[in-house]
Amino acid sequence: MEAIQITNILYLISAVAFILGIKRLSHPKTARSGNLLSSLGMLIAIIATLTYPGKEFDFTLILAGVGIGAVIGAIFATRVQMTEMPQMVAIFNGLGGAASAFVASSEFLSSPNSPFIIVCLSVFIGSLTFTGSFVAFGKLQGFISGRAITFKGQQAINAVIALLSVSLILAPGLFFDSSMYNGYLNAFFVIIVLALILGVGLTIPIGGADMPVVISLLNSYSGIAAAATGFLISNNALIISGSLVGASGLILTNIMCKGMNRSLANVIFGAVGAESEGGGSSDGKEMNIKSYSTTEAAMILDAAEKIIIVPGYGLAVAQAQHVAREVAESLEAMGKTVLYAIHPVAGRMPGHMNVLLAEANVSYDVLKDLDEINPEFEDCDVALILGANDVVNPAARHDQSSPIYGMPILNVDKSRTVIINKRSMNPGFAGVQNELFGYDNSIMVFGDAKDMLNDLLKEVKEL
Ligand code: TAP
Repeated sequence: MEAIQITNILYLISAVAFILGIKRLSHPKTARSGNLLSSLGMLIAIIATLTYPGKEFDFTLILAGVGIGAVIGAIFATRVQMTEMPQMVAIFNGLGGAASAFVASSEFLSSPNSPFIIVCLSVFIGSLTFTGSFVAFGKLQGFISGRAITFKGQQAINAVIALLSVSLILAPGLFFDSSMYNGYLNAFFVIIVLALILGVGLTIPIGGADMPVVISLLNSYSGIAAAATGFLISNNALIISGSLVGASGLILTNIMCKGMNRSLANVIFGAVGAESEGGGSSDGKEMNIKSYSTTEAAMILDAAEKIIIVPGYGLAVAQAQHVAREVAESLEAMGKTVLYAIHPVAGRMPGHMNVLLAEANVSYDVLKDLDEINPEFEDCDVALILGANDVVNPAARHDQSSPIYGMPILNVDKSRTVIINKRSMNPGFAGVQNELFGYDNSIMVFGDAKDMLNDLLKEVKEL
């Protein structure tokens, strides 16, 4: 067998590992092994590339890169909190896009005969992903305003930059002397600058709850840039892995948009969360807030038979998943039925609540998704909301002025009693007040989720 055939077989094996790995990621039970399988696929692809027949590599440089990358990766993996995952993914996307742009640039600068359109596609999408992802990171990390930043003529400017870029990619001769390499070179550099600006221009008008969707979209872009680079340097593994990232990023974007009942165009151009927008009809309205102690909450739970726990972003922040499970187990030991309601966009990343509760060894059987759990609220005695806000806001069902209007929500208000735990009356991620807190059947138990649940656990054990 020829050496090149062995390389291609290794690439094929890595592609199969990627696909099976992604499939396993779709369920919490198999996700870890899926991650491992995909990583193994990537290792096989790297080995195949480094042993590519007829290619010479500077292994000192490669090992230095691998070393630096491994250290940075290990630091991120151990230090970054789960609630900061979107920021981390944003940085990784940005660097992925930049890497693709660098490889394509190096190919173009060293071999002028490279296909210009493919070079530009990779460089354009890679550069746009780079700045877009770093703006997204800055917004989520609070370095820049998380709100949508808008100004007059913004979309028109973005459209002109996009049009100019496409024209330069398809017909550089319209702007520069394309009979000479220098003409292409000039177009190439202008395209990079335009893409860097467009990345910022497209991301700053997006704000509030939409940022994770944008990160997923940028993730898809980084995959497309990688696939284009793969075509350029004729590397099958890069084409396959880039296409998989591109496709899975788009699928995830679509799932998130569905979870919020928004179109992708509305997410990108809707400027939801801009300073000028109203915050929904419940803002500024007087609400009848009833604040209860954990002792009173424990008494209500004592009288309940069916309890549905609704975890949200606050539970993740407080790292209260373990004590939440302990409370649930104590209630079950008293003969009560306890279920968990999982909203598809609760928390800050897809599957956030599943991962959080799996970490606390909550059985998958009691985790119920939106469609499955919503009918259950009708005959539920207590809905216990732990650090969730937007995903239980009934305004999404009826208030057309609310930025979350149309988002499918957990119908907790249909329960006999709703116990809401959060620290204050501050709004959730979408920045709107929640009318649920003022409903007749709602009571608030203020405090950090972990502290409150620890107190509640003591009270429940004494019942
Ligand atoms: P949020 O609406 O963000 O509300 C979280 C609540 O947790 C806050 O109101 C906060 O109130 C409370 N909280 C924070 N720290 C706490 C602590 N230590 N203890 C107790 N409570 C605490 O959360 P959600 O209901 O999970 O909704 C998720 C939001 O993210 C939605 O708007 C969704 O559209 C958006 N989003 C999510 C995703 C994914 S994939 N998950 C993607 C796109 C958008 P206090 O400050 O008063 O405590």
